Amino acid sequence: MNKHQTIEILLGLLGTLLIVFALGLYILNEPSRLEQAQGDILQAQLNDAMTLYAESCAVCHGLNGEGIGATPPLDSGALRTMPFDDLYKTIARGRFDTAMPAWSKDDGGPLSDYQIEELVALIQSGDWNETGDRVVNLGLAPLIPFTTDPDPVLVEAVGSLPDGATLQTAIGIYAAQCVACHGTDGLGTGIAPALNDPAVREKPADELTRTITYGNAGTLMAGWSNVLSPDDISAMVALIQRWDEVPTGVIPAPDVSIPTTAESIALGAELYSANCARCHGPEGQGRPIAPPINVKSFLSSTTDQALQQIITLGVPGTAMPAWGDRMTDAEIQAIVGFIRQWEATAPEVAQPLGQASGGGGPPWLRNAANATATANAATQPTATPTSASPSVAPSVAPSVAPSVAPYQPGAEAGTGQGGGPPWAQEQAQTSGSAPLDWRVLALAAAGLSVAFTLIASGISSLKKYR
Ligand code: HEC
Ligand code: HEC
Ligand code: HEC
Repeated sequence: MNKHQTIEILLGLLGTLLIVFALGLYILNEPSRLEQAQGDILQAQLNDAMTLYAESCAVCHGLNGEGIGATPPLDSGALRTMPFDDLYKTIARGRFDTAMPAWSKDDGGPLSDYQIEELVALIQSGDWNETGDRVVNLGLAPLIPFTTDPDPVLVEAVGSLPDGATLQTAIGIYAAQCVACHGTDGLGTGIAPALNDPAVREKPADELTRTITYGNAGTLMAGWSNVLSPDDISAMVALIQRWDEVPTGVIPAPDVSIPTTAESIALGAELYSANCARCHGPEGQGRPIAPPINVKSFLSSTTDQALQQIITLGVPGTAMPAWGDRMTDAEIQAIVGFIRQWEATAPEVAQPLGQASGGGGPPWLRNAANATATANAATQPTATPTSASPSVAPSVAPSVAPSVAPYQPGAEAGTGQGGGPPWAQEQAQTSGSAPLDWRVLALAAAGLSVAFTLIASGISSLKKYR
């Protein structure tokens, strides 16, 4: 054996070893790669499902799937272990004679088969805390329990209206079945339109009856014929058409605070400084043009819902704009959450502008801010929304309706540079294929050495036979 042959054999061996080694690694890695691919699919499904849950289910089943009142929890051991088909059918077809609507497109609902599978995956293996955060970040946290209590004194008063008994029945049903979506006093919410609205009131009775009986296919508005008798439904129609006669506050707003996440607070801070600081001061201290917000008396007497209402509707006839036209509910709720954080440390009297914010500003401005602060403190009692909200309410219905538009991330004012919400970023990361690189390298190296060995031995054989 000459030197050349030894080198050939060694090279051949080395090449073979490399191939075996690379293949071995690849084979060893294959199950975990498949697992990861499946994991990625599941992750994507859960990601979609959390948004579906926020949009369609949270209003009845709660922020974290904990259930609300008579609506059962979805975060439940029994459902996690329920056979896939049974759970699928429950969601697809709904539960007859209950408020649980059918969700599948085949049954007139809004969801595709795949979306229902995603929801089953969420119920069986999702993370409910993460889901709750998603619901909050989308501004879809239920602020009204599915069932509320009508104000007994005002319900009594309704009894004295013509055919008052029918209206009383309808108010009872509304508070039990409709309020979570259509809002207190029929004023609408982020997920469903106002019913206490001249445009709806003027609709013909048949049309309203049809909507309530059969629902509007493909929307959250399910048909109620399973739950309500024809008499109940005609009472609902009467209530809607005569809502202007019904006193405000019959179905009052419960004081539920808007939940927050780190992300929603950060969004609120950003939106506040971009849109509100120029009038209300960077720390809410107030400026000559607008009253302070960061004041104990104001914050402690104003509920989150009242804050949301002031910001959404503005204060007509003043410089305070209606932000509902420019911001989504999620964005306004994020601002409310951010402002609410001030309450713990809010001064009794507004801090002069510039003290906390470092920047300062001309002294005349500070004095002026101080003056408005005290002036405002004096008028505070009349300005508190507890008294303001009922008087604002009647004019509210029409202007609330536009805010019903679905959440549009594209419309976000100050959040563009973040590159979208973190869940989207997360997904973008998981779909990258970083772990593949070393395997490609190993295969390429093995391939090259094989080729090299073959060529080398080919050349040497040629030499031999020449
Ligand atoms: C309008 C209110 C409402 C909405 C919206 C709603 N549900 Fe329900 N859901 C209910 C009620 C009420 C029940 C209980 C029915 C019963 O008594 O059997 C229920 C029951 C269920 C059950 C069976 C629970 C069990 O323990 O047997 C599942 C699963 C379920 N809902 C999933 C969903 C999903 C997923 C969505 C969103 C796509 C959703 N629901 C939206 C009201 C609602
Ligand atoms: C789970 C949420 C939800 C519940 C509960 C709900 N609705 Fe609706 N409703 C909606 C949505 C969403 C729409 C808008 C549908 C569309 O876009 O066509 C709607 C539309 C309507 C309309 C049509 C309004 C119009 O402009 O023509 C009427 C009437 C109505 N609902 C009555 C009721 C009554 C009465 C109840 C209680 C018995 C009720 N809804 C319960 C979500 C809900
Ligand atoms: C162009 C100036 C301006 C801008 C911008 C502005 N506001 Fe106002 N805001 C006002 C004025 C003026 C009032 C007082 C209205 C009144 O007289 O009742 C007010 C009132 C308020 C109140 C009620 C305070 C009270 O004491 O009753 C809140 C809450 C509020 N604004 C929040 C906000 C938020 C949040 C933003 C940003 C999204 C914002 N405002 C942007 C001018 C402004």
